[in-house]
Amino acid sequence: MGPLKSIWNWFRKPSSTWGTGILLVAGGVAGVIFWGGFHTAMEKTNSLGFCISCHEMEDTVYQEYIKTPHYSNPSGVRAICSDCHVPREWQHKVVRKIRATKELYYKFIDPSIDTPEKFEVKRLHLAKNVWAEMESNNSRECRNCHSYDAMAFDKQHEKAAKQMKAAKERGDTCISCHKGIAHKMPDMSSGYKLVFEELEAKAKDDGAKASELFTLTEMPFWLDRDKIDQGRGDGLLISATKLEVLETSGDARKVRISGWRQKGADRIFYELMSHRIFTATLSPKALEQVKLGEEKTDPETELVWIPVSLDAWVKAEKLLADREELWGLAEEMYTASCTTCHGKPAADHYLANQWIGVMKSMKRFISLNKQEYRFVQKYLQLHASDTGGNGHH
Ligand code: HEC
Ligand code: HEC
Ligand code: HEC
Ligand code: HEC
Ligand code: HEC
Repeated sequence: MGPLKSIWNWFRKPSSTWGTGILLVAGGVAGVIFWGGFHTAMEKTNSLGFCISCHEMEDTVYQEYIKTPHYSNPSGVRAICSDCHVPREWQHKVVRKIRATKELYYKFIDPSIDTPEKFEVKRLHLAKNVWAEMESNNSRECRNCHSYDAMAFDKQHEKAAKQMKAAKERGDTCISCHKGIAHKMPDMSSGYKLVFEELEAKAKDDGAKASELFTLTEMPFWLDRDKIDQGRGDGLLISATKLEVLETSGDARKVRISGWRQKGADRIFYELMSHRIFTATLSPKALEQVKLGEEKTDPETELVWIPVSLDAWVKAEKLLADREELWGLAEEMYTASCTTCHGKPAADHYLANQWIGVMKSMKRFISLNKQEYRFVQKYLQLHASDTGGNGHH
């Protein structure tokens, strides 16, 4: 009989009261150690020191956090990592701890954030996980310390009080307005840049087959097939402009650009009558070749609008067959640029022409380039309350 087996037998058939007593005591001690240990482990794994044993790197989350009011403030109340990231109620807490085993995997087996460079690459992805979680649990952890009910709005500064009184009424959740309070905001553009690259790759095929195409980027057009690539072209097409393909010649396409122009502003094409949604700008030479339809007067503004069309040549490399895919890209850009300070305004909350003014007033807050800016504006305008809210016109 091996030693293990004899011990087992001894436990199984305690031959004396002495044996049974040992068994009970041992069981009790093990139980205490187990539950106590479990509890202590749960507490230890909530300490600041534990979290930064992995998240300590220079210039990342910890360094950013210690410069914020949540680390040091006049009242001396500190929110540590776990206050914001780990639920207090045990049932939520256990779920979070089990999920945290994923972090162990990425720490030891497939290091994903062990250098600041690798961390920056992953930051947007990780931040999105946190945002999604806080959206779905109504910023539960924030509300362990803060609540709308406890806010003395009259003691807050004006901007905060105005926004948060309205937020309280709408039942908005904290995280939809308070991103980047404890750490640097991720580079929001990395998300839509990826989508753009995917569409760019796709456009290489789309341009060859479809008879209706949409511009992925702004691009010049030429009146002459032979002059393609020479100079700046005879005008510019804005992103997401619809083109009807008339003729194919190598990697060039003859296309028809149709739309509206306002009497007096001849060099701009708009997609719809009475709505300032840009599709193209024309050189004086291109202007001569525009075909005009019958004038119409907008009864509300008394402005005169004329249906127009122009045939011209473009290069096929950045054209897409499905405008919904472009709107997917625009939606990514819109979310990335416009949701850091407040919730995302619904496109159909405004008229198409009102979006021009709203975008202008928010312009100083955002870092989109001119082309991206016009593209997001067009997306919002074609999904506005007076354009049917779906962009199919
Ligand atoms: C054993 C090392 C380690 C410890 C300890 C650790 N983390 Fe992490 N954590 C990681 C790694 C690695 C990732 C990245 C996981 C990935 O790449 O998906 C991560 C990701 C995160 C994320 C991103 C959100 C998500 O769910 O993807 C948050 C928030 C986070 N940790 C908070 C904490 C907090 C709070 C603590 C302390 C309670 C903590 N971590 C302790 C290694 C650790
Ligand atoms: C452990 C308690 C605690 C938790 C959890 C907590 N906070 Fe705070 N928060 C504070 C304290 C304390 C201050 C500083 C008050 C002062 O200035 O004296 C503060 C300040 C703030 C401020 C103003 C300063 C700033 O950084 O702009 C905002 C906004 C804020 N908290 C939002 C949040 C949000 C959003 C969450 C959830 C992600 C959250 N807080 C979680 C305690 C907490
Ligand atoms: C609709 C947007 C919005 C929502 C939702 C919102 N806030 Fe705010 N909050 C603001 C704005 C704007 C400020 C002023 C920020 C500034 O001055 O930089 C502010 C300021 C604050 C401050 C600082 C107040 C002061 O006067 O110093 C705290 C604390 C705060 N918010 C906490 C919260 C918490 C907690 C929630 C969720 C219960 C929440 N907020 C929801 C927009 C919002
Ligand atoms: C006041 C609440 C608060 C505190 C305290 C806090 N975080 Fe965060 N953390 C957030 C929020 C909110 C996000 C989502 C991204 C954002 O808005 O910056 C986040 C995101 C993260 C991420 C994902 C990467 C990123 O930068 O977005 C990691 C990792 C993380 N926190 C770890 C920590 C660690 C470690 C600590 C303690 C040193 C800590 N957090 C303290 C609120 C907090
Ligand atoms: C850096 C913070 C910030 C960013 C980024 C930002 N906004 Fe705003 N936004 C604000 C503030 C602050 C207000 C309230 C301003 C006011 O009342 O004058 C506001 C108000 C608004 C309103 C309501 C305006 C009204 O007339 O009622 C809309 C709509 C809006 N923003 C849209 C956007 C769009 C679209 C973007 C992206 C292109 C954007 N915001 C980006 C801070 C921001």
